[in-house]
Amino acid sequence: MTPFRLPVRVFMAPGCLGELEPELRRLHAKRVLLVTDGGLMSTPWPEEVARLARPVLTDSATRPNPRVDDIDALAREARAAGVDAVVGLGGGSVLDAAKAVAMLITNPDPSGCTRSIAEYEGKNRFEHAAAPFLAIPTTCGTGSEVTWVSVVSDPAAKRKRSIKGDGMFATAAFVDADVIESLPNALVATTAMDAVTHAIEAVVGRAANPTSDELAAAALRRLLPALEAMAQSGERDHVGLMEGSTLAGMAFGNSDVGAVHCLSEAIGGVTDAPHGLLNAVLLVPVLRYTQHEIEKPLSQLAEAAGVGTAGGPGRGVEHTCLHTARAEAFLERLDALRRGLGLPDVAMLGIDASLHGELALSAEQNGSNTSCRRDMTAVDYHNLLSGV
Ligand SMILES: [Fe+2]
Repeated sequence: MTPFRLPVRVFMAPGCLGELEPELRRLHAKRVLLVTDGGLMSTPWPEEVARLARPVLTDSATRPNPRVDDIDALAREARAAGVDAVVGLGGGSVLDAAKAVAMLITNPDPSGCTRSIAEYEGKNRFEHAAAPFLAIPTTCGTGSEVTWVSVVSDPAAKRKRSIKGDGMFATAAFVDADVIESLPNALVATTAMDAVTHAIEAVVGRAANPTSDELAAAALRRLLPALEAMAQSGERDHVGLMEGSTLAGMAFGNSDVGAVHCLSEAIGGVTDAPHGLLNAVLLVPVLRYTQHEIEKPLSQLAEAAGVGTAGGPGRGVEHTCLHTARAEAFLERLDALRRGLGLPDVAMLGIDASLHGELALSAEQNGSNTSCRRDMTAVDYHNLLSGV
């Protein structure tokens, strides 16, 4: 049995970014690497974080879907600069890249050379805990600030690799809703739909447990009303979105993701399409495909999160017809939300049919595929891509 783990000091309040400086002092961090991305340069946050962290090295070149080569090069540079702590300011790509670099810094080969992140694919494949890593999410979806996993793209292998382990959790996370105020609506929509997917997959998968179930319900209670309000009126509940995203990260980080992520990571590894967008598009079709196997936990999640239909059985009560009805209503609501946010459907992604076989195989080989309650094969993923 896997225990619930969350060894991260989580600061969660508007303005909590101010805690960064005392945290770095507490860790005796002297030589900080700041990892961020160029897209944030028009916001005040990189300058504010640099003021607090006084980095000796700053990398603002992280691309969406961070690549093995870029991470390896940054880790070499960081080791050469004597970096002893890493601050990540950004969305999932930045946080995953920063998390990977923090681990590579403390795990060189016997001759002292930096290994490639690709060598550590899998779980607990590294010896030493990562250097202190302080995570500041600037989107409301990744959850990376509270998970032990870094997902990196390997263009040579045409797929993504997951590197995870007990020593890869962030030392501290600063979940500050003020940071997403300038995030465009389109990015709020896709990243928050990623968080919605995290919450749902945490609950409907085989690794679900009572703690992650509760965290997922708490996440959805914040995320769905916030997203629906944004779709209807443009009004944004930044606190609800940020809290929901991190709670969803805590949930799936201690359960797993499932078929939605298996397929989205396969597609993202080849097309470079944004992770959140792919999950938003795939969420309902994949859940429908596996509905028979998951409708009871899906129905119970809707009930626990207060987003299901009125009435029906309480949690733990067997009542197949009502579980079916509630799961169906929940899926309808999710699909209406996708449309309301102006997000495309699978057909509109325009994935070349010649890629379907390769993508389906890659999805089947994803490490999280075994967490699906329905045994998903490449044929199943192919069916989903073809709209069967
Ligand atoms: Fe995700």
